[in-house]
Amino acid sequence: MPRQAYVNGRYVPHREAAVHIEDRGYQFADGVYEVVPVYSGILVDEDLHLDRLDRSLRELRIGEPMSRPALKLISRELMRRNGLSNGFLYMQVTRGVAPRDHKFPKDARPALVMTTRQTKPHSKQLLEEGLKVITVPDQRWERCDIKSVSLLPNILGKQAAVEAGAYEAWQVDRNGMVTEGTSTNAWIVTQDNKVVTRDATHSILGGITRHTLLKLIRAEGYDLEERPFSVEEAKAAKEAFLTSSTSLVLPITSLDGQPVGNGHPGILTGKLRQVYIDYMQSLKKSA
Ligand code: PDD
Repeated sequence: MPRQAYVNGRYVPHREAAVHIEDRGYQFADGVYEVVPVYSGILVDEDLHLDRLDRSLRELRIGEPMSRPALKLISRELMRRNGLSNGFLYMQVTRGVAPRDHKFPKDARPALVMTTRQTKPHSKQLLEEGLKVITVPDQRWERCDIKSVSLLPNILGKQAAVEAGAYEAWQVDRNGMVTEGTSTNAWIVTQDNKVVTRDATHSILGGITRHTLLKLIRAEGYDLEERPFSVEEAKAAKEAFLTSSTSLVLPITSLDGQPVGNGHPGILTGKLRQVYIDYMQSLKKSA
C-alpha cells in the first residue's frame, strides 16, 4: 500500500495530500509542529512531545485540534498503515483555513496534518568521521522556544551549511554566544570534562532529546552546566555534539573549518550517544 498521510480527518495517499491555499500555515506560517522519533515501533517521549505541542499552541492562542487520546489514536493508525518501525512522525497544527487577513479569524478550526517517514540508521562513516558545523548569525525572533513552522532563518542557515559542505549551522547571538543549530541543540564538552548546553530560555527550542539527555547525564553523574557558551569556547572545547529527534546524539569534529578537540568524535559524546540509544531500547522492553 502506498504511504499515507492524515489531513484534516482523512487518510489520503501521501503523494496527493494537500491543504487549502488559504490555510494560515501556508499563507502566514501561522502554525506549529512536532517531530516524534519512532524507534522499533515506539513513539519516543511521546507525551513530552505532546506537552510541547500543547504549549506551542497555547503560546500562539491556537486551539487544540482534538484531544490527546484522539491524537495518539491517529498517530498509531497512521504508523500502522505505513508500517513505520524506525523513523519519525510529523504533526502540524495551523490556525486553520480563512480568507487572508492578518488578524485571527473568528471561526476557523485548527487544521491538523500528520505524516510519517521511515529513516535508515546513521551511517558508520558519519559516526566515525563526525560532522562539520559552521556558525551563522542568529536572525530569528525572540520566541524560539515555540516550535513554530516559521523557519526561514533556520532554512537559510541550513542551506549555508550545506553549501559549505557542513551538516549543520550553529546560530550565534549578538553577544557571540551559540544559541542552537538550525534544527538541533548544541553541546560542548570542556577540557575539564564538563558537558555544557545553553539553558532553555526563549532563545532556543527546548529540545526533547536535550531534555531526556540532561536527565540521563545527571543520572550517570557527569558534570553538567546549562549556560550559554561562546564560539571561542566551542573552538577550544574537547568535544562537541548535537542532539535532535532525528539526529539523536551526533559528534561534531569540525567547527568553522577548525578541528574540535583532536578532530575525532569525542569519547564522552560516544558514551552519551550509547546512553541515549540504551534509553530508547529500554522503552521498547517496557512497552
Ligand atoms: N528539529 N532546535 C531546533 C531549532 C529544532 O528545530 C529542533 C528539532 C531541536 C531539537 O529538538 P528535539 O530534540 O525535540 O527534536 C532544537 C526537528 C527535528 C525538525 O525541525 O525537524
